[in-house]
Amino acid sequence: MKTQKIKQLAAVVGLACGMASMSTFAGTITGSAHDFKAATWNASGEICVVCHAPHNNQASILNAPLWNHTPTAASHTMYTGFDIDGTVGTAPNGASLLCLSCHDGTVAVDSFGGNTPVPTNIDAINANANLGVDLSNDHPISVTYDDVNDTELHPAATTDVTIGDGVGTTGSIANLLLAAGEVQCSSCHDVHNTNAVTGTKLLVKSNAGSALCLTCHNK
Ligand code: HEC
Ligand code: HEC
Ligand code: HEC
Ligand code: HEC
Repeated sequence: MKTQKIKQLAAVVGLACGMASMSTFAGTITGSAHDFKAATWNASGEICVVCHAPHNNQASILNAPLWNHTPTAASHTMYTGFDIDGTVGTAPNGASLLCLSCHDGTVAVDSFGGNTPVPTNIDAINANANLGVDLSNDHPISVTYDDVNDTELHPAATTDVTIGDGVGTTGSIANLLLAAGEVQCSSCHDVHNTNAVTGTKLLVKSNAGSALCLTCHNK
């Protein structure tokens, strides 16, 4: 009943903002792909708890934002690519490591709050969202944004970009898209859906006409 009411409220707010899709409700995590409050395995009925809790969090990921999900212990094959100028970390770090807690397919989605289930057909991440542990065929992450040696990258400090769904924020590539000077999953995706573009895969910017790619790459 409570869930029902929240959903109805979300739908009303969504319509009031002129958003066409109710299932993707950009602007909040509620109703997004990361809203697990109604999952059969989530008895709490809460949203944040799958990834964050106020106390007694995962000590093994230091400096992560109150991280409550079992971290991945897998060893990942990193991108080596063609002609990389930046430095790719030897292992995923920062936000990417948190995303891979679920998206490398080695830890169950319902493994949080100290539970340690391994993936089964019920709680494993779906195949299309499972990047696996071999990241050499994915866009580089945990890579420095080396706009000095790679002159086909727009200057991170001085290029202003706008992200979000028309209500987004404007700022430099460095401030809005990079984390400690590095490209991470969160450079392109907004895990909370706050500034993601409706109808995309939680992208911080529409990729129509490859706009997202052209934000960083001067091609
Ligand atoms: C599916 C996992 C997931 C869920 C669910 C989730 N978060 Fe997060 N959260 C993350 C990740 C990953 C980061 C760090 C990377 C980032 O901010 O992009 C983060 C960072 C944060 C931060 C610190 C950085 C910032 O964005 O301000 C806050 C605060 C936060 N989350 C609050 C919440 C709250 C409140 C909820 C529930 C309404 C929530 N999160 C639900 C994954 C999640
Ligand atoms: C608690 C586990 C968990 C964490 C942590 C997590 N995700 Fe997800 N994510 C999921 C699940 C489950 C789905 C739904 C997959 C599906 O469609 O079946 C999903 C879906 C997505 C999608 C597809 C969205 C759509 O609308 O189809 C994207 C993009 C995504 N996640 C990116 C991220 C990024 C980036 C991070 C880290 C900043 C992250 N996720 C962290 C579990 C997680
Ligand atoms: C350089 C930008 C970029 C980075 C970095 C990036 N992604 Fe994506 N990702 C995209 C784009 C663009 C799409 C949408 C592709 C499409 O719609 O066909 C996408 C799609 C996805 C999907 C949806 C797959 C599906 O078919 O449902 C997931 C899940 C996802 N990314 C997770 C991640 C995770 C986890 C990371 C970090 C390890 C990451 N992404 C890093 C750009 C990026
Ligand atoms: C947040 C900035 C950013 C965005 C957005 C982005 N990239 Fe990148 N991309 C980078 C950086 C940084 C590198 C590493 C470049 C280097 O050091 O040589 C890279 C590397 C690459 C490479 C590998 C180059 C090589 O030499 O192996 C390709 C290809 C690429 N990006 C394509 C894309 C595509 C396609 C998109 C859109 C889906 C995209 N990028 C979006 C920053 C970005």
